[in-house]
Amino acid sequence: MSDGFSLSDALSTGNNPNPSAPPPQGWPSWGNQPPAPGGFPAYPGPQGTYPGAAGTYPGAPGAPGTYPGAYPGAPGPYPGGPSGPGPYPGAPGAFPGAPAGPGPYPAPGQPPSGPGYGPPPPQGGPAPPMKIPFELPLQAGLVPRMLITITGTVNPNPDRFSLDFKKGNDIAFHFNPRFKEDNRRVIVCNSMFQNNWGKEDRTAPRFPFEAGKPFKLQILCEVDHFKVAVNDAHLLQYSFREKKLNEITRLCIAGDITLTSVTPTMI
Ligand code: GAL
Repeated sequence: MSDGFSLSDALSTGNNPNPSAPPPQGWPSWGNQPPAPGGFPAYPGPQGTYPGAAGTYPGAPGAPGTYPGAYPGAPGPYPGGPSGPGPYPGAPGAFPGAPAGPGPYPAPGQPPSGPGYGPPPPQGGPAPPMKIPFELPLQAGLVPRMLITITGTVNPNPDRFSLDFKKGNDIAFHFNPRFKEDNRRVIVCNSMFQNNWGKEDRTAPRFPFEAGKPFKLQILCEVDHFKVAVNDAHLLQYSFREKKLNEITRLCIAGDITLTSVTPTMI
C-alpha cells in the first residue's frame, strides 16, 4: 500500500475459517436493534476540507466507536454527512455542492422521503427499511481513504445483488455476488464502459454471504484500487479501470438484499 495504510493491524487478510460465524469483537449490534443514542458519532477527523460529520444513512446499528471495522483509521468527515445527533441528523445544504432540493435520494443523513419510506421513527426506534435499488450520491466523487460501509441482510432464496460505482452510465466497479450461477456461488467483479462489460474478475477466494443472514460490506477506496471487506475480514481488491475518481459520483445498490445502513466516512 502506498499510503502507509495497513490492514494487517486489524485483520488477517486470508480466509476466514468460518465466514458464517458471529461477527468478531467490535462488531456492531445488528438488525432490529435501535441505533445508539445520538446515532453515528460525529468524528472530528483530520481532513478539514470536508465540513460536516460522518453520517450513517439512515439508521446506524451499533454503538459509537465500532466503525469502521475491517479498515481501521480515525474516521473523518465526509461531505454530505449529517451535522447533528439522532437517527436522521443533518440538514439540507450540509452537502457542499449538493442540489438544494431533494433528489431521488436524499443525501446521507437526511430523512428519506417518497414511496416506501415511512416517517422517521421515534428516537431509539428501529431503522426503517431502505428502498432497493438504493442510490448514494457521492457529490465530490470518490477519493482515496473514503470508506463506504453497507449493512444489510441477504434475502431468503437470493439470486444476486450488486454494488455499482458509477461515472455517468459507466460502471467503474461492479461488485456482484451471485448465489445460484449454475448451482454455484461466485462473486463477479467487472467494469462497464460505453455499455460494454469488460473482463470479469472471478477470483474472490471465498463467498462470505449467506441467504437470510446479515452482513457488513465495506468498500475502501485506495490510491489505485478498491478494497472489499465483508464482516470485518478482507475479501478482495479490484484495481481501478476508471481512474477519474472524482467523476465516480454514485453508488447504486440493487438486488436480493435488504439494506440497513450505508455510511460513507473518511479514514
Ligand atoms: C452480465 C450481467 C450483468 C453484470 C455483468 C458483469 O452477464 O448481465 O448484470 O453482472 O455480467 O460482468
